[in-house]
Amino acid sequence: MLKGIAITGSGSAVPATTLDNQLLTQLVETSDEWITTRTGISQRRISLPTESLSILATTAGKQAIAAAGITAADIDLILLATSTPDDLFGSACRIQAELGATKAVAFDLTAACSGFVFGLVTAAQYIRTGVYQNVLLIGGDILSRWVDWQDRRTCILFGDGAGAVVLQSNESDRLLGFSLKSDGTQNHYLNLPYHGSAQELSPGINVTKGTYHPITMNGKEVYRFAVQKVPEVIDKALFQANITIDQIDWLILHQANQRILNAVAERLNIPEHKVISNVANYGNTSAASIPLALNEAVQQGKIKPHDIIATSGFGAGLTWGAAIFQWGR
Ligand code: COA
Repeated sequence: MLKGIAITGSGSAVPATTLDNQLLTQLVETSDEWITTRTGISQRRISLPTESLSILATTAGKQAIAAAGITAADIDLILLATSTPDDLFGSACRIQAELGATKAVAFDLTAACSGFVFGLVTAAQYIRTGVYQNVLLIGGDILSRWVDWQDRRTCILFGDGAGAVVLQSNESDRLLGFSLKSDGTQNHYLNLPYHGSAQELSPGINVTKGTYHPITMNGKEVYRFAVQKVPEVIDKALFQANITIDQIDWLILHQANQRILNAVAERLNIPEHKVISNVANYGNTSAASIPLALNEAVQQGKIKPHDIIATSGFGAGLTWGAAIFQWGR
């Protein structure tokens, strides 16, 4: 039985509608100059009410399956990393139906902007134990639904999208090392919280009725956390992989902010030409950002078979993690 893992195909999808910084200046008091110098973001894609996470995720998933050279019927497991499902019970099963992945078991996984890396490691466990052979991992989010469009500290940052990869059992194990972390004591720095008020069913028995409220964030603390913890966790994953920093071909971080990307690369001594970035075009697409950047780099012919990639996700929870892998079989 093959117990190694290979990442054999990728895909991505973004909504057609672009919201550039200039348009944002009509919504909040900000400027293109402020947003680009603090974040590196120029524009982001926004889902219209007729679009959905399931549609974006299905499109990305289809591409990844085709790129891997298999069919939806071959998929054993579909993992959807998202914090913004179309249905709070989960959206993975809708995607399974849309894809026609009849034998796959499907479920959602929530780890905010770390979702893709957490999903990658979760998928790998099922393959390494010999339980499943073909896993479709999708990272997707529509944070535009949950942004306060009057809050200039957050509405400038986020965008919508989905990215996907297929992981398959393989003779050689291409997942070389990983490390995952959580720290709930810092949970209050980044939230999309439920708020409700009591509704009396009968004397003494109340239930809560409400909804989720827009994203709240302490930008400075999240920035500090990312710049400190991401290099540490990449170092841990590299140590586990028995790989040195100069052996890395590409660094693909969660695309939160160009300043975070630059600071992490600098701390790790990774030269700029190895850092993959598309944050200028899409903003922070949460669980989608890593597979979206990965897929673009594969499509552009930058990433070649057996290139060594260091990836790291970080965000709400707080959660963070890194994985070191080689592209392809
Ligand atoms: N346009 C113009 N001014 C803005 C603004 C905007 N969009 N947003 C905030 N400001 C103002 C603030 O009100 C503040 O003004 P004041 O000094 O008069 O109070 C000033 O700019 C500086 O605000 P501050 O919050 O200190 O900015 P910052 O340098 O920390 O940059 C972030 C803000 C959000 C770009 C930065 O903190 C960051 O990148 N944090 C990480 C966020 C992140 O990546 N989150 C997701 C992780 S998954």
